[in-house]
Amino acid sequence: MKKIQFFDTTLRDGEQTPGVNFNTEEKVQIAKQLEVWGIDVIEAGFPIASEGDFEAVQAIAKAVKKMTVTGLARCQKKDIDRAYEALKEAKDPQIHVFLATSDIHMKYKLKMTREEVLAAIKDNVAYARNKFNKVQFSPEDATRTDRSFLVEAVQTAIDAGATIINIPDTVGYTNPTEYGQIFRFLKENIADFDKITFSSHCHDDLGMATANALAAIENGATRVEGAVNGIGERAGNTALEEVALALYIRKDFYQAESGIILNETKKTSDLVSRLSGMPVPRNKAIIGANAYAHESGIHQDGVLKNPDTYEIITPSLVGVENNSLPLGKLSGRHAFITRIEELGYQLKEEEVKETFKRFKDLADKKKQVTVDDLHALMAGHTQEKAERYHLESLQLQYVSDGKQGAIVAIRDEQDETQTDSAVGSGSIQAIYNTIDRIMKQTILLTRYRIHAITAGEDAQAEVHLVVEDPQTGAKFNGVGIDFDVLQASAKAYLQASEQVKSRNK
Ligand code: KIV
Ligand code: ZN
Repeated sequence: MKKIQFFDTTLRDGEQTPGVNFNTEEKVQIAKQLEVWGIDVIEAGFPIASEGDFEAVQAIAKAVKKMTVTGLARCQKKDIDRAYEALKEAKDPQIHVFLATSDIHMKYKLKMTREEVLAAIKDNVAYARNKFNKVQFSPEDATRTDRSFLVEAVQTAIDAGATIINIPDTVGYTNPTEYGQIFRFLKENIADFDKITFSSHCHDDLGMATANALAAIENGATRVEGAVNGIGERAGNTALEEVALALYIRKDFYQAESGIILNETKKTSDLVSRLSGMPVPRNKAIIGANAYAHESGIHQDGVLKNPDTYEIITPSLVGVENNSLPLGKLSGRHAFITRIEELGYQLKEEEVKETFKRFKDLADKKKQVTVDDLHALMAGHTQEKAERYHLESLQLQYVSDGKQGAIVAIRDEQDETQTDSAVGSGSIQAIYNTIDRIMKQTILLTRYRIHAITAGEDAQAEVHLVVEDPQTGAKFNGVGIDFDVLQASAKAYLQASEQVKSRNK
């Protein structure tokens, strides 16, 4: 079996998804879960892109223990220096340098000749190699690059010290047959192909990103880049969970394996979905809500007789659990802690009291406490621990002419509570106007989405929203979970407001 390294770019290319914006704490939280999931290399960000990106790459470099940590850099010394500064404390740092090699990119975007591009690769890869033992080079838009020039660019990078070559299908243009041929062509024309790590990086514009990545593996790639849930620029990247499962389920065919801990997949996917505000479509492969649901009578009958008839993946393989729990309002502390630990959470002694109280409150309101409820409870607990502003109370009243009034109390990190009120044309607007007054801010709500975490009328609501700071144009996510949709909406807005405030400090 050949070993395939998994390179996760959820925090870099994934964050290029329109409307997705992780803060540093969220990035560290995701990075730690990616480590548990078994990712080999994490692309933590693009250090020169912004102060926030630099800070996050640095924080991840310090926080992770086993994964290689990489940062993106254009083929420029100032980018490489910035990446070095951000990554120098990582246990195993790597740099990822890229430069476009397709005629269209060189002519219109870079305004550089082929000779200039080759010179820049040689110069900057060598510069990067002086600072890093692991240097990855990506000829951007490789799949639309003239094949012989692609070989020249790749060979130049290798001669200058690149240890990893990534072949990006930047615009999602290729197909499995063609992408496989590119890897074979490189294998035939690069003398040291087997000494170098060759990697795939695919976008999903034509819906072929996973198939293309697998074709690369069949033809010599030993590393695959992608993002959790397939998030990323435009239609997104290769969904890493799909590649991991394809390799596992079809190991007879691919003869390759990854280090991914499959039963951590659902938890990883849920975390990224929640923090990115990008819901997973119900019919999404591997982690969609319908992926293990059998609707037709013939299928149901088959599965009851033998699950193998229609089920190639068991839900437990990827950590999708049976959604009913014998936990209810009479359950004791011990049963609760045991279940929470079974779900993979570690509670410190001092956290047990507070989370158990939350569970009791939940069990008082719900007939059946599901696994999803418990994940949401733990997510709310982690979120609130990290927050500096807490929603203390919320009251609404009808004013007149269809207007609503809100009275909101917010407690800050000094334990001081501020209360204010405002009106709006609806309840949400009244709440948000009030929070704006308390936080002394003017921000724009650019996206608001609500969904029920579980089925049934007693389901908890999860609100995802995006706000924009009109002064800088920066966008911030907020997530709030509560039984009450207005309360969840207020929590989400407050979380986003806190990020705006800390960014503008
Ligand atoms: O899609 C792409 O070309 C990229 C590069 C920076 C590798 O994301
Ligand atoms: Zn990309």
